[in-house]
Amino acid sequence: MSDSDDTQLEARLAEQESFEPPASFVEQANVSDPEIYEEFEENWPDCWERAADLLQWESDYDEVLVDDDEPFYEWFTGGELNASANCLDRHLDDRGDETAIHWEGELGESREYTYEDLHREVNETAAALRDLGVEEDDVVTMYMPMIPELPIAMLACARIGAPHSVVFAGFSADALATRMESADSEYLVTCDGYYRRGDPLNHLEKTNEGLADVAHDTTTVVVDRLGDALDHELAEDQLDYDDLVADHEGASVEAVTRDAEDMLFLMYTSGTTGKPKGVKHTTGGYLSYAAWTSHAVLDVKPEDTYWCSADIGWITGHSYIVYGPLALGTTTVMYEGTPDYPDKDRMWDIVDSYDVNQLYTAPTAIRAFMKWGSDYPDRHDLSSLRLLGTVGEPINPKAWKWYYKHIGGESCPIVDTWWQTETGGMMITTLPGVGTMKPGAAGPPLPGIDAQVVDEAGEEVAPGEAGYVTVNKPWPGMLRTLYKNDERFVSEYWEAYSDPDSDEWVYFPEDGAKIDEDDYITILGRVDDVINVSGHRLGTMEIESAVVGVEGVAEAAAVGGDHEMKGEAVYTYVILEDGYEEGEEMKQSIVEGVEDAIGPIARPEEVLFTPELPKTRSGKIMRRLLEDIANGEDLGNTSTLRNPEVVDDIQEKL
Ligand code: WT7
Repeated sequence: MSDSDDTQLEARLAEQESFEPPASFVEQANVSDPEIYEEFEENWPDCWERAADLLQWESDYDEVLVDDDEPFYEWFTGGELNASANCLDRHLDDRGDETAIHWEGELGESREYTYEDLHREVNETAAALRDLGVEEDDVVTMYMPMIPELPIAMLACARIGAPHSVVFAGFSADALATRMESADSEYLVTCDGYYRRGDPLNHLEKTNEGLADVAHDTTTVVVDRLGDALDHELAEDQLDYDDLVADHEGASVEAVTRDAEDMLFLMYTSGTTGKPKGVKHTTGGYLSYAAWTSHAVLDVKPEDTYWCSADIGWITGHSYIVYGPLALGTTTVMYEGTPDYPDKDRMWDIVDSYDVNQLYTAPTAIRAFMKWGSDYPDRHDLSSLRLLGTVGEPINPKAWKWYYKHIGGESCPIVDTWWQTETGGMMITTLPGVGTMKPGAAGPPLPGIDAQVVDEAGEEVAPGEAGYVTVNKPWPGMLRTLYKNDERFVSEYWEAYSDPDSDEWVYFPEDGAKIDEDDYITILGRVDDVINVSGHRLGTMEIESAVVGVEGVAEAAAVGGDHEMKGEAVYTYVILEDGYEEGEEMKQSIVEGVEDAIGPIARPEEVLFTPELPKTRSGKIMRRLLEDIANGEDLGNTSTLRNPEVVDDIQEKL
């Protein structure tokens, strides 16, 4: 293509506001009939049988939905199944020799597990865990990076009916301890370390720091990821994963029969208060929903090679690296490292060498690719790609179009999927074989999902006006409760918009949004005190308590400010106690304090010292104003503040 053709194309793309799914895609799509929306609506809730039908049930469910104790809904009640049997055993006859997981390490080594291999190792691990004493319904914590032993341990737990609780490996020792204590989890699977940008990183040290803060006894299994690259010594009561598995070579563990409503896993996520919430997901509803959305939205087919570049430590990895793809019997790719190691074309190298058909990634990554330039993808043959997806935060039209053109070669539909840890799977997105795409807008709610955009009073807003997302009907993948905290479950998600007297239950995801004439929803971001950094949810209260924990800090506020690459970044405003000095050293201890308490992802972008925080007359910190200051926005009238002069002070420092 000549330069001028290219420029013309860029100009056309820049103006184009909607895109049709390519005919070549529609022809082969798992879902291509627009009638599906009506079908689901007319046939609700029985429409969800279509999701359940993607699984193998040991005994049929009696009812699709039981709603006599709202908002404690139950799905597929009376049904029995096992998630690991659904992800492994049932594929053995037809697809035992096919690849289940392609794993690529950061240094370039790779491991391939066929369904048979994966089945074998999951059985051995399940036998080992059972021998250690793990019983049905015991919560097993996993604190591991992107290594195959993570999904293996998850599936081994599922096999014996022990819910897992995966803690993102980038989280701190404190975060591990809090989660293990909150879940009363007495078992931990972790590893010695892993590679980051080529360097071995000691993970066991961090694990041990965390374990020191867990009051109850724990049994810890350690995977040896680094071999000779990192010497590690196990404590006397810690067990080596390889030894355990070798001791159980060839073991076969029958998959236990679980009720549809039995817990499959817990996943902790941040909310408004400082305490992370233990989101509970179930076996039947969650797995059906993960499989259904992988089928309908990601268009996953057994013969595909599918890659979601998220980390399994987040819900995206649970639903769309492990459970959804494996339930459908496809090949799922797992990559251990960072996208720019050893060079900025690492992702495209993986797509090229494995012939990846679907790529599901985050806007923050796409913005980085865009900044690095199209030379990197251009070096590779990306023609195997059929579909692209994004998740985690809003994607701006410019990044969407770059992804569409430079990665998808203008022949792949893009699904911009809005959902949450709590929803278990995708909720708002176009169906790639059905809907027109509008860059920037996630799309309409999926078939069977009754999402709206409403004002404070719960009335639907007019097209173009800002409001809040609500979901007015339950769905199979929904969280069932917050672990051991039914009360907080009701108050966090249901109280805002429900009317229990008239039996109207409305789920409130705490996101702002607008909607257009075609019912396309554009997500505007969180409306609670949560910052979305590179698609990861961080609670401002958690950050603030970390900052206040640093010696010399009297008071702190953390807010999200716009950030070119990360979407949002953490800005902290700090008041010091008398006798402590503002300066680089103090900044450094605050940054370290936050990293220690939460993890490097929460690292403050800016630490601003101030003698006071802007407060309302009633003494509440004006967060909105602090956000505007961070974003360099016009502040308008600040005279309603108790202390307006402090604003100039802070602005001067920025
Ligand atoms: C929050 C949920 C869903 C898995 C990853 C994050 C934001 C998510 C989108 C999107 C705009 C999005 C929302 C949501 N979000 N997807 N496509 N467009 N915003 O899961 O950590 O539970 O965070 O991420 O604000 O509430 P999570």
